Amino acid sequence: DWTPGNIVEEQVARIREQVGSKRAICALSGGVDSAVAAALVQRAIGEQLTCVYVDHGLMRQNESVEIEKAFGASTGGAKLMVVHAEDIFLEKLAGVTDPEAKRKIIGEQFIRTFERAQAEIIAASEGEDVAFLVQGTLYPDVVESGGGEGTANIKSHHNVGGLPDDIEFELVEPLRALFKDEVRAVGTELGLPDEIVHRQPFPGPGLGIRIIGEVTRERLDLLREADAIARAELTAAGLDREVWQMPVVLLADVRSVGVQGDGRTYGHPVVLRPVSSEDAMTADWSRLPYDLLSKISNRITNEVDGINRVVLDVTSKPPGTIEWE
Ligand code: XMP
Repeated sequence: DWTPGNIVEEQVARIREQVGSKRAICALSGGVDSAVAAALVQRAIGEQLTCVYVDHGLMRQNESVEIEKAFGASTGGAKLMVVHAEDIFLEKLAGVTDPEAKRKIIGEQFIRTFERAQAEIIAASEGEDVAFLVQGTLYPDVVESGGGEGTANIKSHHNVGGLPDDIEFELVEPLRALFKDEVRAVGTELGLPDEIVHRQPFPGPGLGIRIIGEVTRERLDLLREADAIARAELTAAGLDREVWQMPVVLLADVRSVGVQGDGRTYGHPVVLRPVSSEDAMTADWSRLPYDLLSKISNRITNEVDGINRVVLDVTSKPPGTIEWE
C-alpha cells in the first residue's frame, strides 16, 4: 500500500542498509526535494549525515539567508555546512551561452564543491571517509534526463544527466521513484513545515538557466530585482499555491526601444512564465488576472533600471518546457 508512512519506513530501512556506519553528505538546495531527502536520511543515520548548502550565486534575492534560517526546522536538526562558491561558478560560466553547456558546468561545479566539503568533513571527523552523496532526485528528473527506458534527453537536470563521469561518491536517492505530490506528502509525514513542503519548485542551476545568454553578475542582479517583484506580487495576490511556479526569464541578449519620462530607453525584456501543473511533466500557462499582470509589469519597468518590457509566455508544456533552458 502506498502511504507516506510506509514510504518513510521503507526508505529509512533501505538507507540504513546502504550507508551502514559510513558518513554521508546531502546536497541541500532549499527546495522541498532535497529537504525531504535530507530529513529521511537524517532519520535513518542521524549524526553520520552532514548537509551542505552551496551558494552558487545563482539564487534569488535573499534566498540563501532564508534557506539557512529555515534549515533547522526542515531537516530534523541535521548538521549544516554553507559553502560560498559564487566566484568559481561565475568564472566557469563566463562566455557560455549554450543551455546544456551551462547545465553541465553547474552540475560539475556542484560536485567539485561537494568534494571540497567532503575533504573538510573528513578532516573534522578524524579521517573517517564520506562515501555517500544524498540527492533529492525525483522520478520526473530521471525520466527527463533520459534515465528512464526509451526516453529522450530533454534537459540534463543538474543532479542527473549533469553529473560528471568521474564522480567519487555513491549516490543515495530515496525519492527516485516519487512524484512531487508524493514527496510533499512524505515531507508532511516527516513533520516538515508547510513553508518548505509547499515551496514552489526552483531548479538547481537557478537563475543560470533563466538568463538567456551569458550569465554575469550584473545580469543576475537585474533578474533578481525583477524576480523579487514578480514573486512578491504573486504572493500578495494569494496565488502561490494555485500557481505551480513562475519563472522570470531575462532575455539578456535582446534589447528593445522604450520611452520613459521624456527619454528613450534601450533595455532588456523579461518574460513571465507562470504555469499550473501536477508533476511538471506537463503544464499549462496560468491564466493570471490581468490586474496582477499589469501591476507586475508596471512595477518591474518602473523599479528595475535596465528592463523596459515585460512579456507573458502563453505556451503549454509540451511543446514548451517550463524553464527556457
Ligand atoms: P522543465 O523546464 O524541464 O522543468 O519543464 C520541469 C521542472 O523541473 C525544474 N527543473 C529542474 N529542477 N534541477 C532541478 O532540480 C534542474 O536542473 C532542473 N531543470 C528544471 C523546473 O523548474 C520545473 O519545475
